[in-house]
Formats: sequence, C-alpha cells, structure tokens
Amino acid sequence: MQMQSAVKGAARRLLREAPRRPQALTGVRSSSGRGIHVLPLHPVAPLPHRGAHPGGLSNMKSLLICNFTPFRSTSMGAMGFSSSAAAASEKNVESSNSTSSSGPLAKGVSDDLKESNDTKISHYWGIAPKAVFREDGSEWPWRSFMPWETYSANVSINLHRHHATTTLIDKIAFRTVKYLRVPVDLFFQKRYGCRAMMLETVAAVPGMVGGMFLHLRSLRKFEHSGGWIKALLEEAENERMHLMTFMEVAQPKWYERALVVTVQGIFLNAYVLLYLTSPRLAHRIVGYLEEEAIHSYTQYLHEIDCGRIPNVPAPAIAMDYWRLPRDATIREVVEVVRADEAHHRDVNHFAADIHEEGKRLKDSAAPLGYH
Ligand SMILES: [Fe+2]
Ligand SMILES: [Fe+2]
Repeated sequence: MQMQSAVKGAARRLLREAPRRPQALTGVRSSSGRGIHVLPLHPVAPLPHRGAHPGGLSNMKSLLICNFTPFRSTSMGAMGFSSSAAAASEKNVESSNSTSSSGPLAKGVSDDLKESNDTKISHYWGIAPKAVFREDGSEWPWRSFMPWETYSANVSINLHRHHATTTLIDKIAFRTVKYLRVPVDLFFQKRYGCRAMMLETVAAVPGMVGGMFLHLRSLRKFEHSGGWIKALLEEAENERMHLMTFMEVAQPKWYERALVVTVQGIFLNAYVLLYLTSPRLAHRIVGYLEEEAIHSYTQYLHEIDCGRIPNVPAPAIAMDYWRLPRDATIREVVEVVRADEAHHRDVNHFAADIHEEGKRLKDSAAPLGYH
C-alpha cells in the first residue's frame, strides 16, 4: 500500500510539473498535438533501434511494478532519446488538463486514464503509436523518421574525388550531366536555396528506381541483392529528407511546383528506360550528378560565408535528422547535405564500376551503414 501511494504521489508530481518541462525545442508541434503524455504500462515491446541500448530494458523492467509509467522510461542509445514502449491501448492525458483542473488529480492517475478514453483518436486496430521523447523530455515530433534512424554525417569525406572519364560510357555520362547543368544554372543562377530544393525533387528518383528494379529482380530470380536494394532505397530516402529540409527555407512558388511535376514526369520515365537499358550508364550519370551537387553546395556555402545568403537557424527537422546542435544554422545543414552527396557519388560510381567489370551488383557487398 505504501508503495502504491508513493507511486501515485510521484505521478501527481509529474503531472503538475509537466507543463514546466521543456516542450519540443524545435518549435514543431507534436504529432498528436497533445504535449506530454502519461501512458499506462502494458506488455512492453522492445523498440526497434540501432546501436547500443544501454540499460534500456532493465529500466523498463523496473517500471513493470507499477500500474503506469511516466515518459522517459527507456534511453535510446548514445543519442539519449527516450521512449515509452507501451504500444498497446495507450491512453494519453493532456498535461494541460492535469493542471487546469484539480478533479482528475484528486481522483488519481487511474481516473485520469479512464477519462482519456473519451478522446477521439483514430488508431490502427486500436493501437496508439508509441510515444517517443527526447532526453530533455520534449516529444519526438516526427513520424517519417525516428531517433534510431538519425545519424551524424561524415563531413570528413573527400569532397574532391572525381571519376576520370576513361570509357565511352563515362564520357557520355559526364557530357550528359554537363549539358543538364546548363539550363539549371540559367534558371536558378545564384538562388542556391531554391536550387537545392528543386534539384532534390529529382535527386530522390534514381535510388528509388534502381532499388525497385533490384527488388523486382530479386523476386523474379530468387536471389539476394547483396544489400544493394537497401543501399539504393536509403539513398532515395536520404535525398527526400534533403528536400524536406530545404523546403523549410525555400517555399516553392506555384510555377516551381508545376516545373517539378513536369520534370519528374520526364526524368522518371527517362531514368526507368535508362536503367533497364544500361544500369552502368545510369549509375555513372548519377555519380557525376552527385559531383555537381557537391559543387553546387560548395557554392551555396560560399554565398553564406560572403553574407549574400543569410545564415538562418537550421530547420527543426534537420537538427533531429542529422543530430545537429540546437543552435545549428543553415550552414551546418548544407555541410552535412554536401557530405551525403559525396557518399551518394561514391556509391553510384562504385555501382557503375561493378557493371563495368561485367559483374552484377549483388557480386559486391553494398556500402551500407553510412546513414
Ligand atoms: Fe541531395
Ligand atoms: Fe545525392
């Protein structure tokens, strides 16, 4: 009994303190829009994650003694993210309700949870999404990527590496990219924020196309892919995250949206045909496109350093995705994006080299583990 009353007392204190806990530092409204949650503890499902999980499960076990668990029950590895892993039948309690009315507090946490049954939320088969928190107590605001999918970009990667054009395929690829750059330079000139945003809408296509065809081949041929499906789909997702970042600093105008639709329609079909015809040429072109992307982002950084482009605070999504400090600026974002492009460059030139040797991608292990 003493333990139960102590636990309830602790819960009440948490509810009282909840509004004072730091909200999402990024300024992004939580996905549920409900602030800090208190969740009942049900059979605990381990969270999928990468890397070490020091003490996480033991922490969770220690919480099994009570009828509920507050947030921050599990530390998420080196990133220090937290998550309440009660996946089933979670019931959320708005912290604001907890403090604005003494009624729920007087009746105890269990009554709070019963009252929250009235909340109308659509859940997949009645299972609420896991509530995930940063170490500072603020709720993880993103659903498209989770803390264990974030990473620190390797900014020490060689930015000057260039694949020399030794074969006809290389020369065709190189010339194609150089010609494609002309209209891009004319259209965007030095509007690098807008340029980055628009080009990322195209950059995310090749990885998806290549990954899809390798996936289909794996199904047709009953064979493994050597990790290349995952590598190419990761590249596509990474490029899409570049887009999600840059659209925060350069809102597309109506005619730019129309241009994206048109270019995507043309580029997607062209790249599908190219990949079916010559995956070697397709990967080589992407390799050279990435070299150009590195060059463009270097110019972007130069404009920031010269003061011609304001070094505004980094978008919230970028801080979380690349594990940047909370005072990061767009300059740091451009640096990590440029490092990503260098990684894509190496991956695609490597893929083209494998084809050049007359082998298949599955014959050489894909360079996984960067993201
Ligand atoms: Fe990109
Ligand atoms: Fe890229």
